[in-house]
Amino acid sequence: MTVVAIDGPAGAGKSTVARLVADEIGVPYLDTGAMYRCVALAVLRRGVSHGDVDEIASIAESVEISLHADTVLLDGQDVSTEIRTSEVGAVVSIIAAMTPVRNSMRSQQQKWIADHGGGVVEGRDIGTVVLPHADVKIFLTASAQERAARRVQQSGGDLAQVAKEIEGRDHLDSTRQDSPLQPASDAVHVDTTGLSISEVVASIVAIVHKKQEIKNV
Ligand code: DC
Repeated sequence: MTVVAIDGPAGAGKSTVARLVADEIGVPYLDTGAMYRCVALAVLRRGVSHGDVDEIASIAESVEISLHADTVLLDGQDVSTEIRTSEVGAVVSIIAAMTPVRNSMRSQQQKWIADHGGGVVEGRDIGTVVLPHADVKIFLTASAQERAARRVQQSGGDLAQVAKEIEGRDHLDSTRQDSPLQPASDAVHVDTTGLSISEVVASIVAIVHKKQEIKNV
């Protein structure tokens, strides 16, 4: 089975595109951002301070996260909507920057790919750290303006405020010490500004098919 890594900043269209590419090539899909969001939600629910790295690490290690086609379960409870709230959005980058949290999530993500034998995995450090041997690596981007506009269209809110939140999150994600957001040296860059979802999906599927042909020669 084929392994496809899709990384990129917030609002570049990774989730939508990754899901459709996975359907198209007939492999499962993993949204790793949802895993960090689950840990952030568990931390918020327990009222743990953001500074308490040991306690947060132990939460990351002990919570049970399971991702299904349309639902995300945290300790058996459906939290698909709750992990997308602005409260979670406000703390998830801080929590995702913690090395013990990343170690826990990374090993679960690598186990997921080993269990499934392949898939489309989407996040920030998939091509660089989690799956450095992925068959295809895509770095998905779009202009900051377009990313903010897409988020507003998807989840509502004030454009200027959403743009500020995205900017803040991108800054934290790309300047953290542990596996910062950056393109893998062998990633194909796809700028989705002005492109439709189906155009982006088609171009990635074409890259995957080309790679599969080379592998099968
Ligand atoms: O993709 P998203 O917006 O749901 O990601 C939520 C947060 O998790 C975001 O701040 C980046 C972080 N993240 C990460 O650090 N590594 C990943 N592989 C996926 C997400």
